[in-house]
Amino acid sequence: MRKRLLISIIIFAVAVISFSFRDNGSGIYTGYYNEKLDAFSRQQEALLSCIRTTDISTSAGSEKIKQQIQLTRNRLKSMDFWFRYLEPTVYKKINGPLPVEWETEVFEKFEKPYKREGAGLTLAALYLDEEHVNKDTLVSLIKQSITATATYRADSITKNFGTYHHFFLCNRLFLLNLAAIYTTGFECPDTAQIIPELRIMLSDANNMYAAFNESFPATPVTENYLALFRKAIYFSNTQPANYTVFDHFTFIRDYVNPLFALNQQMIKDYRVVSHSLVDYSLNKQATSIFKKNIYNGQNAKGIFLRVDDTAVLADIEKIGKLLFYDPILSGNNLRSCASCHKPTQYFTDTAFAASLQYNNKDLLPRNSPSLLNAQYNHLIMLDGKHISLQNQIKAVVSNPVEMGGEEKAILQKIMSCNQYSKAFKKLLKYTPQEPEVCFEHIASALTMYYAKFSKYYSPFDDAMNDQANIDIAAKQGFNLFMSKAQCATCHFVPQFNGVKPPFISSEFEVLGVPAHKDYKQLSADKGRYEVNPAGETMNAFRTGSVRNAAHTMPYMHNGVFNTMAEVIDFYDAGGGAGHGLKVNNQTLPSDSLHLSATEKTQLVQFIGSLNENITFENPPAKLPVSKIKALNNRKVGGTY
Ligand code: HEC
Ligand code: HEC
Repeated sequence: MRKRLLISIIIFAVAVISFSFRDNGSGIYTGYYNEKLDAFSRQQEALLSCIRTTDISTSAGSEKIKQQIQLTRNRLKSMDFWFRYLEPTVYKKINGPLPVEWETEVFEKFEKPYKREGAGLTLAALYLDEEHVNKDTLVSLIKQSITATATYRADSITKNFGTYHHFFLCNRLFLLNLAAIYTTGFECPDTAQIIPELRIMLSDANNMYAAFNESFPATPVTENYLALFRKAIYFSNTQPANYTVFDHFTFIRDYVNPLFALNQQMIKDYRVVSHSLVDYSLNKQATSIFKKNIYNGQNAKGIFLRVDDTAVLADIEKIGKLLFYDPILSGNNLRSCASCHKPTQYFTDTAFAASLQYNNKDLLPRNSPSLLNAQYNHLIMLDGKHISLQNQIKAVVSNPVEMGGEEKAILQKIMSCNQYSKAFKKLLKYTPQEPEVCFEHIASALTMYYAKFSKYYSPFDDAMNDQANIDIAAKQGFNLFMSKAQCATCHFVPQFNGVKPPFISSEFEVLGVPAHKDYKQLSADKGRYEVNPAGETMNAFRTGSVRNAAHTMPYMHNGVFNTMAEVIDFYDAGGGAGHGLKVNNQTLPSDSLHLSATEKTQLVQFIGSLNENITFENPPAKLPVSKIKALNNRKVGGTY
């Protein structure tokens, strides 16, 4: 509590200081903003009084309220540009997608996940569709949204509008959201409104850019950008208003992504400074949404974070490679990381639905996920149990059903090999914080080794980044992924995992994955509940990446599906609940997607276009020799 108070005092002080240095030229832009905010507030009030005075038990009444909600959403869309960036948590009250969300943002890696209740327009619209609608609940959802807007109004201007900095950062998030969520139906329950809402946002942004340029002539939105933006507006106005026919692929490749690059350039040229946690993981250097450096996920360098010399980094990776294949990391010297994450099988294990246990007999409860792009998750493991890749290694080596070892003994065994001990001792000068070789050095060499396979691109990326050609079916598959098939409401561009812009948190979802293909039972795995026990987290799993998925079968946490066609059939019928299983808290809609056979094939083709052109390597020819003779029977990669 006290810490929070201190923080608010500091924020207040900063607000007062920045207020006194306010740029006088900001008037027109601020005026534009105030006008939009006022219009939104007035419409919120109109909606509230409409609900109060309407008989919601009749379908005409319900329809009238729905129309008012849509008018309010349209006004909200004019504010989205600022709300989303400046007040992401307030936004959850104004237009939250879910009644309850468990937050797992970057800063929450270091504290317990906490619960946030949503309110506002989307929830009100969804609630109206339920069977017994209680007026008080509806009123409360809208009232909370009004209060949140008022709270926000009080300090947004003094905090931000004195300088131009916030503007380019808001714009960056706006562009990322145009690519990742605004055209997918995320937070827009009426799919017929997705493209109309998009058009409102684009046209408002265009007017806002003009207002901004009048107020900040020294740091204008460039002519190039404005010209391309007008083309984007033209494109969206001339595309079909039905979001399943809208060409998402071209919209992102030809407009949103190049606009993003131009905005990144302005951020650089105008030396835009961010003080917001929202920008924690975004990278100013990225020139495309589809470059791997768009956001920083995990620290794969670990203890070697400060090493930049490429020759030294290559040396560490070499040691990491030996370790990855070396069963010396296990208790019985028979198992290595490569036992369950086979590098040539895209660092997964395609032979088993769930990996073999240490006892070489039973199966583990979970399927081995691919390590490719694992670093682009903020929380590691399918239940998000670990906050760093290095912690994950400490856990797996000492897990009695996985590698059955013990950190100290492993360290001793490793240091008994001359090649390892010489290499690690040579690296000590780069880790002054740890003057002796310790397990952290080992773990970091391992993470550096497998992380280097995440730098590759797929044909889909090449199309987005360099306008390379892509199969027409794959392109249509992407358009389906972004619309009718609803995949992109959970698998977000560009990693196609659960990390959505501004890429600071990992989402968990409940799909109702069955124990077996016969759909008789729900998988008994509690998932996220094991880490954060709450009603909403029961059977929830982290949304995995679809990159390379053509090669990472079997699928889902328990490896229940062997083919992509089975996965798509699972989704097409509405997940577990859609297949008749009782799932109390499924977050995947349980109605059918009505995908045709052609559409299913197109989805599979699109997923195929996400196969990265990875250069795999041969396993090491031999392992380092130990002074302890008994250790020298070790087999490269272990024996099972
Ligand atoms: C016995 C088989 C087995 C061995 C050996 C093994 N893993 Fe895993 N690994 C798994 C399984 C199963 C999971 C998923 C478990 C979960 O989510 O609870 C996993 C998860 C991971 C993840 C998390 C991936 C993600 O997307 O969050 C990483 C990283 C990883 N392993 C790296 C390693 C490394 C490095 C080693 C060697 C030190 C190793 N594993 C050894 C089976 C294994
Ligand atoms: C409600 C959120 C949600 C939606 C919608 C969704 N997914 Fe998923 N997806 C997930 C989650 C969560 C997982 C991990 C489930 C697990 O491990 O049991 C997953 C896993 C997957 C996997 C398996 C990854 C692996 O390596 O095991 C594939 C492939 C996949 N999804 C594709 C799709 C496609 C295609 C669509 C659209 C038809 C889609 N998803 C829609 C949340 C979603």
